[in-house]
Amino acid sequence: MSIKQKENWGSRLGLILAMAGSAVGLGNFLRFPAQAVQNGGGAFIIPYLTCFVLMGIPLLYVEWAMGRHGGKSGQHSTPFIFGSMGKGFYWKYLGVFGIFTNLAVAAYYCYLESWTMSWAYHSAAGHFMGKTQAEVSAFFNSYIGLGTPEPVVFWLLCLLLNTWILSRGLKGGVELASKIGMPLLLLFGVVLAVRGVTLTAGVNGAVYDGVVGLNHLWQPDFSSIWNPVVWRNAAGQIFFTLSLGMGSIQCYASYVRPKDDIALNAMSAGWMNEFVEVVLGSAVIIPIAVGYLGVDKVVEMTKGGSGFGIGFMTLPYLFAQWGPVLSALSGMMWFGLLFFAGITSSLAMGTPCMGFMEDNFNWGRTKAAWAFGFAVLLLGIPCVLSQEAFGEFDYWVGTISLVIFAIAEIILFAWVFGMEKGWEEITRGADIAVPAAFKHIIKYVTPLFLLVVFIGSLPEIWATLTKPITPQVLAARLLLAGLFAAISGLVYAANKKKVAL
Ligand code: ALA
Repeated sequence: MSIKQKENWGSRLGLILAMAGSAVGLGNFLRFPAQAVQNGGGAFIIPYLTCFVLMGIPLLYVEWAMGRHGGKSGQHSTPFIFGSMGKGFYWKYLGVFGIFTNLAVAAYYCYLESWTMSWAYHSAAGHFMGKTQAEVSAFFNSYIGLGTPEPVVFWLLCLLLNTWILSRGLKGGVELASKIGMPLLLLFGVVLAVRGVTLTAGVNGAVYDGVVGLNHLWQPDFSSIWNPVVWRNAAGQIFFTLSLGMGSIQCYASYVRPKDDIALNAMSAGWMNEFVEVVLGSAVIIPIAVGYLGVDKVVEMTKGGSGFGIGFMTLPYLFAQWGPVLSALSGMMWFGLLFFAGITSSLAMGTPCMGFMEDNFNWGRTKAAWAFGFAVLLLGIPCVLSQEAFGEFDYWVGTISLVIFAIAEIILFAWVFGMEKGWEEITRGADIAVPAAFKHIIKYVTPLFLLVVFIGSLPEIWATLTKPITPQVLAARLLLAGLFAAISGLVYAANKKKVAL
């Protein structure tokens, strides 16, 4: 049965930019370089690219195909997309992950996104000029500890902006924002990358050339290839950066017309993300930070695999060494780029939740957008107030749920829906020949790969669950469990309505 779509993408370019925007996020510029430095520099790229080919590309095909399939029957979120592909009632409830993850990740992601707005403003206003490194760090810490009301103001502004864009719909909101944000992001990224790699020792106080950092990043350390932790981190990065296992790709793809290409679109968006991550993402924070601080200090600062400290505390201070004009411009470009990267990702987190309410409870777009904004505000409060709660959200949702959801979706697609039908879904209307090898990779290799990654992380999950916890951690876990239960309740109610019809 084919149902007339409520909304469609306005243009192919808009769709690709929105999908690429969903993938290109803070992870590309802050998480990837830090992960690469921490996991053996150049050797990280081997596990990383292997994960991209064996897990990233197949899951991109699967998620796009599932989405377009769901759109045919008027479904834009994973509970009922899963429900249309597998008979068991439990598929709908596994599909709950595709709404749950988006809401819970958005809860902390939008707070980080709001920092980029604030830092862009302070850079433009020249507020970082003349500040010592300790003063810039103190400013950063005021955002973590909510030392002033300012972070709340930027956070609310950021949520309002997301809500407003979402309420304007796909074409007039998400697509337009991507068409403006993505080209600017690319432009700013290229300018900063050129600046990073051409940084010259002895000029503006730099101690090393920019290429020293780049060399360190790509200096192979082959011993790390045998380290399972490096593989797990590479797999985690591929998931996070491509926004896989979240349900947002399915949602965007569900607005594609049934006979339109998805194969080439999926590859265009996926490879654009890889270009931004591997080429631009590695050429900004590491070369600049190493140029001033040296390799050892940067390795120390990226412990934990996050580039937040360098991105928000160190770079504004280093930019200030370049004089008032260049400093303001660089700060605006760096934080502007992070803002565009962030908002095009958070908009993608909003659409599945909105699609679910619109499809199943006849909500209008505006009401659904406000409900999303409000839910993110409520769920974000614990993340804003407690770093421990923030960490719990990121671990259980931003890391573990993604893998569980991906295992469920690939089994559903390749084994329950069936690979023959699945392959037809992927290749229908395709503007490129999808290599036949992917039929086998999707059926056998990717599920096995995912299971190995998941089983490999079980000891760590067990250790996390059994160690003593604080009341904040308990509250965060209960909140997440409550959220999952609430969405499941909505799926139950929606299903009952459908059965009654
Ligand atoms: N894919 C998004 C990022 O990399 C979530 O930040």
